[in-house]
Amino acid sequence: MKRDVETLLTNLRTDHRNLAMLLDLLQKEAERLEALEEPDYELVHDVMQYMTSYPDAVHHPREDLLYRHILTVRPDANENLQRVEADHEKIAKLGVKLRDDMDSIAAGAFIKRDVIIAELRNYRETLLTHMYWEERELFSLADELLDDSEWSNIDLGGADDRDPLFGSRVDRKFRRLMADIQQRIVWDNQQYFV
Ligand SMILES: [Fe+2]
Ligand SMILES: [Fe+2]
Repeated sequence: MKRDVETLLTNLRTDHRNLAMLLDLLQKEAERLEALEEPDYELVHDVMQYMTSYPDAVHHPREDLLYRHILTVRPDANENLQRVEADHEKIAKLGVKLRDDMDSIAAGAFIKRDVIIAELRNYRETLLTHMYWEERELFSLADELLDDSEWSNIDLGGADDRDPLFGSRVDRKFRRLMADIQQRIVWDNQQYFV
C-alpha cells in the first residue's frame, strides 16, 4: 500500500495525542496506588492490551519504515535516528510485561503495589520521552524532506492499519475502555470549567 508521507505523519501525530491521553490514565492509576486507593486494574489491562496491539503492531512499525525511508535520501541522519528501532523494542517489552502482570492479577496472583507503580511510571516515562524525541527529530526531519516528490510517497506494505480504539469503529474488546475515556473527558471538562 502506497501512501503519501504527509498523511502518514498526520496519522502518526494523531496517534501520539491519543497515546498521551492513555498514558495520562495510567498515571492516574499509579497515583491511586500511591495513595493506597483501589486501582482500576481492568482499565490498566485494557490500556495495555491496546498498547500492545495497535501502537506496537502498527504505529511503531510504520515509524520504522519512515526511518528507513528517510535514510534512502539522508543516510547521514542515521547516527541521530538509529535509536528508533531499539526504543520500539524496549517499549514493546515493557508493555507486554505490564499487560501480563494485569492478566496475572486478574487470575488471582499477588503482585506488590510498588512493583506495579514502578512499571506504570517507567512505561509512561519511556513512551512519553520517546514520542517527544520522535516529534522533535524523526518527524521534523521527515517534514523537511516532504518537498522532494520522489521521496514523498512511502510503501507501507499491506498490513491492516485499522485503529481498534480510536478508529471509525471501536472493537468490542475496547468498548469499556472507550466508555471510560469518554466519561473522563466529560469529567475533566467539568473540572476545567468550574
Ligand atoms: Fe515510536
Ligand atoms: Fe510514535
